[in-house]
Amino acid sequence: MMKKQSIVSIDNLSKQEILSLLEDAAWFEQHPNHKILDGKVIATLFFEPSTRTRLSFETAVNRLGGRIIGFSDPAATSTSKGETLKDTIKMVSNYVDLIVMRHYLEGAAQYATEVTDVPIINAGDGAHQHPSQTMLDLYSIYKTQGRLDDITVTMVGDLKYGRTVHSLLQALSHFRVKFNFVACDELRMPREFITFCKENHIDFTESTDFSEEVINNSDIIYMTRVQRERFADLAEYDRVKDLYTLHNAMLDGSRENVRILHPLPRVNEINVDVDDNPKAYYFQQAKNGLFARQAMICKCLGINPKQNN
Ligand code: CP
Repeated sequence: MMKKQSIVSIDNLSKQEILSLLEDAAWFEQHPNHKILDGKVIATLFFEPSTRTRLSFETAVNRLGGRIIGFSDPAATSTSKGETLKDTIKMVSNYVDLIVMRHYLEGAAQYATEVTDVPIINAGDGAHQHPSQTMLDLYSIYKTQGRLDDITVTMVGDLKYGRTVHSLLQALSHFRVKFNFVACDELRMPREFITFCKENHIDFTESTDFSEEVINNSDIIYMTRVQRERFADLAEYDRVKDLYTLHNAMLDGSRENVRILHPLPRVNEINVDVDDNPKAYYFQQAKNGLFARQAMICKCLGINPKQNN
């Protein structure tokens, strides 16, 4: 039996562990219904809305033969009567083998690991981290490019509040990747991540202009939604929400291998005329989440999928 573990942040995983999870995700893509979670119960506790993350985690468990409990609306739980996060986590820990949780507060998943011995997977905490999204993003990049080294990744939109770009940047720092950060001044990549790039000798550019040159020199264009729910001032949100929209014609001079990624949901960042372009990959990307999450669930439960084959 492998060791059980929580995954709160992508930097809980070494490069070797990331590569091993990608290998397992590829294995699950070939064996999505492998019944290795018989007798396991997994909780999905979603204190914030979700479509893909919750449903793909639940599908992952169902396909592997485990059982799911949980909630998607905290208003229907005793949280609405004033029960604390600590008490909720301790209670649910009495019933399950693994907790997958999303919370609007940064640090909530880390806090949960401090009040229970049951492993936790962070399914997003505020503007902080979204490591399972990162694993499916890495898997999508690897599948479409055939490598994670020597690629140019352009991140566009809300680089301030977008937790997916923060996690992805940290994960890709293990590989030789050049980044273009395209955002307006209000939503630029936070200083701590710019410092991180400098300290780790990561090649990057910062620009407010989503230019033809940037598009045509990218292998991955990672569009992001402006995170309305993180703005204290909605007038500021209205000012910046539609600054970057990718249209199909903007891809005319792009590389053959370029793929458009987006963690979804999209609002106005990608025009629907991109959807039929073979370079659009965001729906397949979301499908890859099923396999990446099957791999993560097994890792956190200490199960090696191949040994149980
Ligand atoms: N990408 C993502 O986290 O989507 P959901 O918010 O729908 O889970």
